[in-house]
Amino acid sequence: MTLEEKVGQMHQIAGNDAVTGPHNPNSNDGEDLRKGLVGSMLNVVGADKTYKYQKIAVEESRLRIPLIFGHDVIHGCKTIFPIPLAESCSWDLDIIELSAQIAAIEASAMGLHWTFAPMVDIARDPRWGRIAEGGGEDTYLASKIAEARVKGFQGNDLGSLNTVAACAKHFAAYGASEAGRDYNQVDISENSLRNIYLPPFKSASDAGVTSFMNAFNVLNGIPATINELLVKSILKEEWKFAGIVVSDYNSIGELIQHGVANDKRESAELAANALCDMDMAGYCYRDHLVELVREGKVAESIIDIAVEKILTLKYRLGLFEDPYRYCKPNRENELLLNKGNRDFARDCARKSIVLLKNNGVLPLTKNSGIKKIALIGPLTESKFDMLGSWYCAGDENDVVSFYEGMKNRFGKDFEINYSKGCEIDSLYKEDFSEAINFAEQSEIIFAYVGEAGLMSGEASCRTDISLPGNQLSLLKELKKTGKPLVVVLSNGRPLEINWLAENADAILETWFLGVEAGNALADIISGDFNPSGKLTVTFPRNMGQIPIYYNHLNTGRPLYENPTEHYRSRYLDSSIEPLFPFGFGLSYTKFEYSNFSLSKNKIAIMEKFIATVDVKNLGAIAGEEIVQLYIHDKVATISRPVKELKSFKKIYLASGEMKKVEFNLSAEDFKYYDKNMEWNIEPGKIELFVGPNSEELLMQEIEITN
Ligand code: NOJ
Repeated sequence: MTLEEKVGQMHQIAGNDAVTGPHNPNSNDGEDLRKGLVGSMLNVVGADKTYKYQKIAVEESRLRIPLIFGHDVIHGCKTIFPIPLAESCSWDLDIIELSAQIAAIEASAMGLHWTFAPMVDIARDPRWGRIAEGGGEDTYLASKIAEARVKGFQGNDLGSLNTVAACAKHFAAYGASEAGRDYNQVDISENSLRNIYLPPFKSASDAGVTSFMNAFNVLNGIPATINELLVKSILKEEWKFAGIVVSDYNSIGELIQHGVANDKRESAELAANALCDMDMAGYCYRDHLVELVREGKVAESIIDIAVEKILTLKYRLGLFEDPYRYCKPNRENELLLNKGNRDFARDCARKSIVLLKNNGVLPLTKNSGIKKIALIGPLTESKFDMLGSWYCAGDENDVVSFYEGMKNRFGKDFEINYSKGCEIDSLYKEDFSEAINFAEQSEIIFAYVGEAGLMSGEASCRTDISLPGNQLSLLKELKKTGKPLVVVLSNGRPLEINWLAENADAILETWFLGVEAGNALADIISGDFNPSGKLTVTFPRNMGQIPIYYNHLNTGRPLYENPTEHYRSRYLDSSIEPLFPFGFGLSYTKFEYSNFSLSKNKIAIMEKFIATVDVKNLGAIAGEEIVQLYIHDKVATISRPVKELKSFKKIYLASGEMKKVEFNLSAEDFKYYDKNMEWNIEPGKIELFVGPNSEELLMQEIEITN
């Protein structure tokens, strides 16, 4: 290969099927493809379209090297599943893996080889729009989800037609963007970096993820794209990651705005020397890397290693054997959005729903005596919003809306009246009266309110996380009718919903549920499916509490020790408690926890022990429960969180059934990066907690000896 051809492999250009960044197609792109100066394309989707470009690369370029097509397949490809934050609330690693697997099958049938997922950023700030794309605020759960998604996308064999290469992003700490504003700087300690933000990336790396993506943000003064601590020391040296590192969309070019490079040439030099293997849509490598190598500013060995990795991935994907193997229209027709995928999407969706409040109005059954239902709210008929952000090849015409789902399920036995009532984000009130009228004529109100699907996701941050527009005013008017009020919420982040928590009769947090949204909602509302989801992010009481998360450190003056004393850690104008804590979610049945015990009360560092708890279903119907185990390292050389999730089990209990739930643990599970940034656990006492959420917990203690 000539140096130009090698650098070409490190150059990724964007197509037009999606716009996922400031799109500046270069007029030379076509010519570059013919000359073999492009290694990869993103945002080209479909068997036909990818075929067209692949043909140019393999039939017109000198070396005939196939292109690798990457795309953001985030929560489904054609069959859109719940957004990742929603899916995380299922705490169901099997369905999470399977949804990634189905996404990979569909993506590979659409000519794609590489997904820019999973997004494994821990997010503790609901203002940040990209909280919707991740697995929530908890490091342990997000690490498990990262592993499940990588396995789902990549399977056991990248060479199989049904799998795609995955990409752990955004490396790293992007979720800690200051003030919850996208692309903003991140300034966190190495302690937080290693203990909170990096473990999901490590988990993806251990699961064999083929690539990593640099984050847009500056981390502790140095842009992540050229941050040596991140890429050289941690990713390559400590974790021995040998796969590809791709920049984010022009994150190399943006080194100029970050003020660390004068121009694109310097940007290219810095990024290549920081071992970024591929330049996404930045044209910095294309325009300057050859020259930089010739001048000795970048060693050719860096280029060779990057190119070897890129070609190896193409080889593993079978592209050298048959560059067109992923772009066969018949496969596309057969595999996209088939019945099996839809059924699975429905199951995924109902498992992602979290019941936040219920004073007995749900489920709605024929025996309730109710005959007339009012469906109110701007999301009731919406299809597009159900897709959420990053809806890939999803099409709103394939979505079952809430209205359709309710009509299908309840239309025969109930009279259903629908009025939109208001828009999602407008101050127009003219339609209130029709909605109130319908509500008055009905015996129960379902108000479907929340955010638009694109109010979260990239570059979609909010400073005000309450219900947009006039929706709360509408709910207040509906409440005045005195009819039972069930609020169904769709949103990509925790919202500030104090009024609802006090005044609604029931609240369902449903995020954005994808193509089967309406059917899944009807399954839950009818009781055909018993809700089992639990929050993976904390809901604040008000915006001033942000950031609020369950696994915080203690203060020296915790309020619980002496609530009446002035000099305590509190707000004068608000509780410090969340509205709904991490791990919280109700069921239509009741579970009782008892007999929490440990097989030992002292263990040596490597010794194993078992924690056991009895969980009983006290209600009349079967249900699933997510049994959560937390720890607190009471005394260590660094301050440790008041609680940290360390294990969980999802169990099914028939009515009246009791199960002994066992957790096999050892002190290894309690390790963390200590003050010397060593992975360690010190002797001392550990409190263990078990329960249905991060607050209602039974406790035991174990001592770790030397
Ligand atoms: C920018 C986003 O940050 C990243 O997540 C995505 O993969 C790329 N754009 C490509 O669309």
